Amino acid sequence: VLNRSEVPPFTIEEHSDGGDDLRMKYRYLDLRRPPLQRNILLRHRMAQSARRFLDGEGFLEIETPFLIRSTPEGARDFVVPSRMNPGEFYALPQSPQTFKQLLMVSGYDRYFQIVRCFRDEDLRADRQPEFTQIDCEMSFVEQEDVLEIFERFAKYLFRETLGIEFGSAFPRIPWSEAMARYGSDKPDIRFGMEINDLSDRARGRGFAVFDSAEYVGGIVATGCAGYTRKQIDELTEFVKRPQVGAKGLVWIRLAEDGSVKSSIDKFFPAEELLLLLAGDRMKTLAALNVLRLEMGDRLGLRDPGKFAPLWVVDFPLLEWDEETKRFYAMHHPFTSPKPEDIPLFDTDPAKIRANAYDFVVNGTEVGGGSIRIFDSGLQSRLFETLGFSHEDAEKQFGFLMNAFKYGAPPHGGIAFGFDRFCSLFGGADSIRDFIAFPKNNAGRDVMVDAPAPIADTQLDELALRVAVPE
Ligand code: AMO
Repeated sequence: VLNRSEVPPFTIEEHSDGGDDLRMKYRYLDLRRPPLQRNILLRHRMAQSARRFLDGEGFLEIETPFLIRSTPEGARDFVVPSRMNPGEFYALPQSPQTFKQLLMVSGYDRYFQIVRCFRDEDLRADRQPEFTQIDCEMSFVEQEDVLEIFERFAKYLFRETLGIEFGSAFPRIPWSEAMARYGSDKPDIRFGMEINDLSDRARGRGFAVFDSAEYVGGIVATGCAGYTRKQIDELTEFVKRPQVGAKGLVWIRLAEDGSVKSSIDKFFPAEELLLLLAGDRMKTLAALNVLRLEMGDRLGLRDPGKFAPLWVVDFPLLEWDEETKRFYAMHHPFTSPKPEDIPLFDTDPAKIRANAYDFVVNGTEVGGGSIRIFDSGLQSRLFETLGFSHEDAEKQFGFLMNAFKYGAPPHGGIAFGFDRFCSLFGGADSIRDFIAFPKNNAGRDVMVDAPAPIADTQLDELALRVAVPE
């Protein structure tokens, strides 16, 4: 007997009797369980495959710093006070974005890194405050080159890890088409049930809800004509939940006996089973996306063993924010516009399309990237459109703008969410099960009990005073 064990606080088996919190507190015991061992092994295999592929293609693994200045990915930064520079703070990188671009200026034409990123944002099943990217960048490339090599990369991972072969090219769907057909920039194309724009046909028949709507759209739920009134009421409640945001649901049912019944009989005699939503176009499309996924779940059309990867391309460069009345970069402010759209800076910036792309599988954004701006004139123009003053841009990104003065090559890249890739391959929804020591939904590590207050002496050393609101 080398050592003795106390009775563990939960059963260490395939299915444990321990609740979430308890298992997180004793994560080192939870990690002994077969499902977690499988997940951690899968993650290891995928990391080795990724390195093998990228090394084989001539990518160099280069580390970049964690104690940096704010990066522009658009989430909140985690900050670290500096003892040696009282009153000043480092920011933890939301991604190595600016550093990998600098490496291109330095002549390392192909870079990658399996790297931790830090974002202080609201957590969900597929979001952790610290997560891992397979981060890549290349010089002397255009969008086509990046998509080609990273489609091969994704296929390599599918083959090496799951033994799945994709014979044909992954579909490429422009962003505007993805929004119109699926109501989402990360469509789940394992099943059809596409959104139909019925605005023109629905309006002008005296039904005020439709007549006053910017957009009316619907999906056909095949096989659901037998839904009871109760089931339909349930769906109506579902779309009215604040997360979905529709005001109501119009339904039209073609029953098995051939009769037609709907919530708006007197306006629309119809022949199909339709679920319709109406209102502001983008909001309604977003709600239709949630409804479509819900129906996909109900009808068992979202098999986790089936994979439907695609590229979403031609994202808008800019996103208008009604609250602050300004444009934000949809990807990040170094993303280049399509050359043919540059004149739109003067006329209609919202219409400018970007050389940006997302890699999407089964309704999850697994990766995203872009071709970068490498011309300092164009970069200044974009900063201007984003409402940065010359001084602000200089202060925040001066180092990058300066670097671009020394012969920056054309470059672009992509970052894959490694945790998401793993959970996708493992057939699970939550990325937590694929991270050895994750945080809970409140951003806490309940095992080491962090975050935690620090000693007054530490605060003094850091020249910090804490004021926690009541
Ligand atoms: P982006 O912000 O799209 O791009 O991030 C790349 C990928 O990282 C994953 N991801 C996350 N995974 C878990 N938890 C999170 N909080 C989280 N946030 C993002 C997603 C996403 O697709 N620098 C750019 C890449 C580039 O332009 O090359 C970037 O970070 O799967």
